[in-house]
Amino acid sequence: MRRLLVIGIGMGEPEGLTARAADALGRANTFFLLDKSEAAGELVSARQALIARFGRPGHRVVRAPSPPRRPAPLAGARKAYEGAVVDWHGARAALLAGLIARELGEDETGAMLVWGDPMLYDSTLRVLAAARAGADFIVEVFPGVTALQALCAAHAVPLNGIGEEVRLTTGRHVAQATPDAPAFAVLLDDGSGLEALLARGFEGTLWWGANLGTEAEILVAGRLCEVGAAALAARAQVKAARGWVMDVWLARRASPEAISAP
Ligand SMILES: C[S@@+](CC[C@H](N)C(=O)[O-])C[C@H]1O[C@@H](n2cnc3c(N)ncnc32)[C@H](O)[C@@H]1O
Repeated sequence: MRRLLVIGIGMGEPEGLTARAADALGRANTFFLLDKSEAAGELVSARQALIARFGRPGHRVVRAPSPPRRPAPLAGARKAYEGAVVDWHGARAALLAGLIARELGEDETGAMLVWGDPMLYDSTLRVLAAARAGADFIVEVFPGVTALQALCAAHAVPLNGIGEEVRLTTGRHVAQATPDAPAFAVLLDDGSGLEALLARGFEGTLWWGANLGTEAEILVAGRLCEVGAAALAARAQVKAARGWVMDVWLARRASPEAISAP
């Protein structure tokens, strides 16, 4: 039976891999790399370095361009956004089903390397579930350190206050309305989520980090109204210097009771 290992690679540093993930990298006959965004250059080379270091002798690497995603308007167009993502996932599933059927022998093992952990804001597992309709294979998952864990570690803070709820969300949601939770962690922000929160005069603390685990890692923490603009400026600077930026942040209300309507 064909197997597909989905390996969480944390922030791409070899030292940040779990021992199980490193072991899984050594099991694969074939690695599948789908190239996508503008960040692809550095992110793909981080994956290639891990494969070169931990892959077994004779492994193969199959690279394919990821199908393009139809752009969706930002505000107030949730359905259009979801529709674009569903179509994109369908195209990726068809591509992967074809690659797995063509490139993996009957009893061979393939692997896909996923940034952070595959359970957090990543479509690989959903896409593979769909791909299994077109190709017969087993999926095994190896967890990795998420960007959110890397953020909390870098700032030496716990994710939650005592017994506190924490909302996991995206920049797109925060741009539309402030989450009604005492604390919220935000991924996939293009800057507009943090900018909107700052403009709304959010009272609370920000822990922000960009390009964690790379030499361009940058951290900002403090009262959001005092340091939010510095985080946005740092974001723009990293993007200009590297050509890409990925940031993740955690916000906690000064007063958890003060949850106003969005
Ligand atoms: C598609 S999601 C993938 C999340 C990933 N599966 C994880 O477990 O961290 C991409 C988002 O993860 C966050 N992210 C990933 N790598 C990061 C890094 N090195 N530094 C800061 N944030 C990062 C950013 O919020 C980025 O927009």
